[in-house]
Amino acid sequence: MRTIKSFVRREGRMTCAQQLAFTTLWPQYGIDVTPGVPLDFAKIFGRDAPCALEIGFGNGEALIAMAKLRPDVDFIGVEVYQSGTGGLFQQLNHDQIQNVRVIHTDVMTLFPDIIPENSLNHVYIYFPDPWPKRKHVKRRLVQTAFLDQLKTVLVPGGCVHFATDWLDYARHAQAVFSNHPDFKAVMDPIPLPYYCPRPSTKFYRRALQLGHVITDLSVQADKPTTL
Ligand SMILES: C[S@@+](CC[C@H](N)C(=O)[O-])C[C@H]1O[C@@H](n2cnc3c(N)ncnc32)[C@H](O)[C@@H]1O
Repeated sequence: MRTIKSFVRREGRMTCAQQLAFTTLWPQYGIDVTPGVPLDFAKIFGRDAPCALEIGFGNGEALIAMAKLRPDVDFIGVEVYQSGTGGLFQQLNHDQIQNVRVIHTDVMTLFPDIIPENSLNHVYIYFPDPWPKRKHVKRRLVQTAFLDQLKTVLVPGGCVHFATDWLDYARHAQAVFSNHPDFKAVMDPIPLPYYCPRPSTKFYRRALQLGHVITDLSVQADKPTTL
């Protein structure tokens, strides 16, 4: 897997209550991964249901909104940093949301053998770090090698929904997706029975405040569909 990181080191803080929620609720909502051991989503959630992954969930508000909208779908969030997770766990517990689990790691470490092949129906990437400087473009999450991994874990016909407020990243992602032989562009609303519109997030609101143009891209794994 690539060694170039798509994230920067950030100092985030949790309140004491959030820290307590993080520690006490980790056994309920957190997933500890063991290198080389694939996750068993049916066992983790206690049911067989469509599964979605949000990469870089930040404070988790999109996870909460999507999980409430689609209780029939199981959501896994992966995020490098823990600082937003205490608050997320408080909300999950308060609202008794059962269909969200969290992994703390660089998503790249989950490929190729932690997330099973053909196991995800949807992947959400909302406002990934934009890496606007030309010399940092290689640090953007969306690259051909990353799509090579995503295509194996998506079910045939599964979708990726990507949103950014950086036009150059939008153009970059558009080029990477459209040049990849195993993905094809699809229009919103995505033609899947468990479709979720993109919820409001912290970085979405920040983009609106800054007057940035927001680009949403949706692509579908172009394998023979079973949906
Ligand atoms: C700009 S923030 C957006 C957060 C949230 N999606 C939102 O819309 O408010 C991007 C997030 O992606 C996370 N991230 C970046 N690269 C990642 C990776 N390789 N694996 C997991 N998370 C990553 C960062 O830590 C950061 O929290």
